[in-house]
Amino acid sequence: MTSQVAGVRGVAPLLPADAARWAAVEDVLRALMGAYGFHEIRLPILERTELYARAVGEVTDIVEKEMYTFPDRNGDSLSLRPEGTAGCVRAGVEGGLFHNQVQRLWYQGPMFRHERPQKGRYRQFHQWGVEAYGMAGPAIEAEVIALGTRLLARLGVEARLLINSLGTPACRERYREALVDYLEVHRHRLDEDSVRRLERNPLRVLDSKNPDMAALLAGAPAIFDYLSPESRAHFALLQDHLAALGVAFEVAPRLVRGLDYYTHTVFEWTPHDRLAQATVAAGGRYDSLVSGLGGGPTPAVGFAIGMERLMALVTREPPRPVPDVFIMTSAPLEGRALALAEGLRDAGLRVETHLAGASAKSQMKRARESGARVVMEARDEAQVAIVRTEIAHDTGALVWAEAVARILQILGAETSSDGK
Ligand code: HAM
Repeated sequence: MTSQVAGVRGVAPLLPADAARWAAVEDVLRALMGAYGFHEIRLPILERTELYARAVGEVTDIVEKEMYTFPDRNGDSLSLRPEGTAGCVRAGVEGGLFHNQVQRLWYQGPMFRHERPQKGRYRQFHQWGVEAYGMAGPAIEAEVIALGTRLLARLGVEARLLINSLGTPACRERYREALVDYLEVHRHRLDEDSVRRLERNPLRVLDSKNPDMAALLAGAPAIFDYLSPESRAHFALLQDHLAALGVAFEVAPRLVRGLDYYTHTVFEWTPHDRLAQATVAAGGRYDSLVSGLGGGPTPAVGFAIGMERLMALVTREPPRPVPDVFIMTSAPLEGRALALAEGLRDAGLRVETHLAGASAKSQMKRARESGARVVMEARDEAQVAIVRTEIAHDTGALVWAEAVARILQILGAETSSDGK
């Protein structure tokens, strides 16, 4: 046997059983997008590197050390997308979506970050993102957060919602100065990574996961004290809206998030009993990004779910579709079986045909595993048999030409006796 080609570390396929679970969950998500008036946008996976340097920020983990960046054959620097927001804004600006218009958009697909792979952290992972444009007040934040909360609840995922405000860029700048003053005084207690962040992007020191720094960071100035009265009022109104909607939240004064584009509200959902890095979904407001990428001033807010992390937490599995009919056959009768399957599909049924030439016993096993409501077996040129249905007494042989009508009758009877 020739040797196998290994997959790329941190980059995994979804095998059929998992793909079916994902698809069932995606159906739930897609239905919720419709319920909130969000429309799908399909975004490229490749973008110019400059997009992420400008949008996500030069001094962020993503841009500094995690992007898959390479020169195109004509020398342009391109990157596999590490996240969806920057590309969504770019596509919206280029496509003229933001001129005096409100937009509610969603996207999904693979993202790429060269992180150290571990449970819940991959190099190719998938996000489901929602982004709302053209609405400046806290009401849209509350709506987007309500959407995320409903989505997790519907899938049986329990998570804490943490919220914070970073205020305007001016508030953030004043806070930054105060934070730098504090951290400089305690510089000798900072770990190596934090010293580097202090010099380049001090707010990111607050994101440190090092437990030795927890006490030091707990004593750092809180951003709330540096918010302008308008920013405070905005944040207070968001909390009123969430309370009125019955959405439980906690204010997390040191939540800053790892991307530079956020202004005002930031939020994340973190599962109970998990490490902080297991955040399942996260986002915030980013009012300067559209203008920063060449569009007109456009307020914006959104979040993205990490699909792998979501799937690890889903407890309420949506039902997976099963075939209505499974047809067992043998090589000489495969043509007959194929024709019957097509006839049943013409009538709108889901049909799986066993074409692998296996023994009756192993075909029956496969039929059971499929969960099909009716199992049939090709007997000979003249007859096909109903081997098993949900109503046992309906079994028996019949001529091929009658099979479609008989199956529709049986399934119709079962459907009405199910009360479906
Ligand atoms: P983010 O916090 O970088 O935000 O990522 C959002 C979610 O993607 C995380 O909460 C996590 O569930 C998942 N995620 C991130 N990195 C990985 C990884 N290496 N492996 C598995 N899952 C991962 C953003 O990307 C923003 N674009 C969110 C946003 C949308 N903000 C506004 N709109």
